[in-house]
Amino acid sequence: MALWGGRFSAETSGEVARYSESISFDRRLYRWDIEGSRAHVKMLAAAGIIPQETAEAIRAELLRIRDKIDAGDFKFDISLEDIHMHIESALIGVLGAEGARVHSGRSRNDQIALDLRLYLRDEIDLLIHGIRRFQKSLVGMAAEHPEVIMPGFTHLQHAQVVLFAHHLLAYVEMLDRDASRLADCRRRLNVMPLGSGALAGSTLPLDREMVRAELGFDAVTRNSMDSVADRDFAIEFVSALAVFAMHTSRLSEDLILWCSQEFDFIELDDAFCTGSSLMPQKKNPDVCELTRGKTARVFGSLTALLTLCKGLPLTYNRDLQEDKIAVFDACDTAEQILAVYPPMIDTMKLKEENMRRAASDPALMATDIAEQLVKMGVPFRTAHHRVGSFVKWCRERGRRLDETTLAEMRETIPEATEEFLGLFDPESSVAKRDLVGGTGFAQVAKQISFWQKALAGEA
Ligand code: ARG
Repeated sequence: MALWGGRFSAETSGEVARYSESISFDRRLYRWDIEGSRAHVKMLAAAGIIPQETAEAIRAELLRIRDKIDAGDFKFDISLEDIHMHIESALIGVLGAEGARVHSGRSRNDQIALDLRLYLRDEIDLLIHGIRRFQKSLVGMAAEHPEVIMPGFTHLQHAQVVLFAHHLLAYVEMLDRDASRLADCRRRLNVMPLGSGALAGSTLPLDREMVRAELGFDAVTRNSMDSVADRDFAIEFVSALAVFAMHTSRLSEDLILWCSQEFDFIELDDAFCTGSSLMPQKKNPDVCELTRGKTARVFGSLTALLTLCKGLPLTYNRDLQEDKIAVFDACDTAEQILAVYPPMIDTMKLKEENMRRAASDPALMATDIAEQLVKMGVPFRTAHHRVGSFVKWCRERGRRLDETTLAEMRETIPEATEEFLGLFDPESSVAKRDLVGGTGFAQVAKQISFWQKALAGEA
């Protein structure tokens, strides 16, 4: 049974019904669809467009429909296409002609624009909460190991010593921007599109302001054509998730390296790893690898949405129905990442001794020597050159940088003093990086307590 009846003489064929339906995926919008319809109907009565009793009957029946769907007692059928038609037809099934008043002054075009905004508002709140929880785990792990030193890498080569806590807090910062990108997206999408109709507004005296207030939007949309045609808010949302996923993928890559035999810095709990069906000794960091893999899917959703919109003439085109597949998949993927990551971080074990050993290579302190020369007035390029020659001198003789006498060091660094021989200690190298944002113990301790306070309210 198709609700648009009048103009049509043939039912859609089975194949076409299967091709056009969206109920298999947009049913997840039912709560928001019902919330929107309840506000719309309340307004219709207040504006004198439908009788008060009809509005009350529809509003009550909408709640019953919601309960039925909640309970799994609602019959979905692809011949009714989408969630909007299912709910409307259920209303009409119970209330007859009175139920058919619900769609006055509304089109599915502004209805879906509304539903998606309502859904994303709640979804964003959920995701931000998840991100805070994730940050809390990272901060907790940093706070448990505030003094652990490890090599920091550039080009995946040992670069300078850093605190493990500093490395983790780098991700806390990234996640913070992810949360703020989502919050920013929420601000922009929090405008109310209902009243835009199919594309041109309505001849009925709809009270858009009332619906706006009822649904807690900041404003009503200013252009009906824009309201039904654009999905930039969905693109922005998925793009924020793509960046978030990219961050988690990088963290995953760090963890994968750290639990490889070559690094051997950490051990992930068995619950987040699997074995090999063939090699009995294997313990693979699958959750991390899957996060890298799932990130590709989120990027795919972003590409799908951008491509979906790029060729559409104004205003609504049916292509837009496919937007939800990309949006939902990105939501689900982000939620899954947020569900597995905090417990994986909480249960990860450090192999502090291995990290320390890797960080004790005196070559990691080469920059400190160059900076010591700068403090003595040597121009940095000259200092860099001298220390480079010193490194070469040591390499040629198969010595570590801390295995020379002062006289030997002076062959390449004439300004060297006794003090230089003490520059190879990883602890003091870290401690001296005492600028805001640096890896110094005092600085990192401040950052840890900053984040502990900032996240204290998060459950
Ligand atoms: N299910 C549709 C979608 O998601 C709702 C809007 C349909 N509008 C239309 N004119 N066919 O886009």
